[in-house]
Amino acid sequence: MRVGVLVSGSGSNLQAILDAAAASALGGATVAVVISNRPGVKAIERAGAAGVEALVIDHRAFASRDDFERALVEALAARQVEWVALAGFMRLLGARFLGAFSGRVVNIHPSLLPAFPGVHAQAQALAHGVKVAGCTVHFVDEGTDTGPIIAQAAVPVRDDDDEDALSARILAEEHRLYPRVLRWLAEGRVVREGRRVMIAG
Ligand code: GRF
Repeated sequence: MRVGVLVSGSGSNLQAILDAAAASALGGATVAVVISNRPGVKAIERAGAAGVEALVIDHRAFASRDDFERALVEALAARQVEWVALAGFMRLLGARFLGAFSGRVVNIHPSLLPAFPGVHAQAQALAHGVKVAGCTVHFVDEGTDTGPIIAQAAVPVRDDDDEDALSARILAEEHRLYPRVLRWLAEGRVVREGRRVMIAG
């Protein structure tokens, strides 16, 4: 299973995926290419250090989202990418992209969806006063963090947490959860029935 990873920033989830691939813990999935919509981000360095091709496709260079997505699709298709994993990719994807990779785009989000979609999920959780937070890997649809949920991991919220402390606790779980889900996908164990997703075996 050839995976393209889309990033915009630090790429710590990308690192967890690359480490799992190097440890043969991705069930045969390989990272074929990393694409960032922003130049100069750490994720690009991480790809290079792992010997994985990294491209910058800057959304600002395109007149429309459709044109940007067409460039993404072309770059991924040229590398025979079958599945796309968003890992801190900060652009919404539309019909052009999702149509090209129908049902084969996944994302990780730092909340227990459907609570706290969108940006600053950890701050939203703290502001709401929840006692349990976490992360979600889900299929991507055209909404913001609204697609069918594949897997979640929970962490406690502590009384003295600030956004950084809670984010770090959640991120540690993200790094475990995302490679595990990619392995399940590579093993063909992820069964989708409408909004419900089951892990076979
Ligand atoms: C993670 O918290 C992820 O859930 C969210 O963006 C952050 C990306 O972090 N979508 P990193 O770039 O993987 O370090």
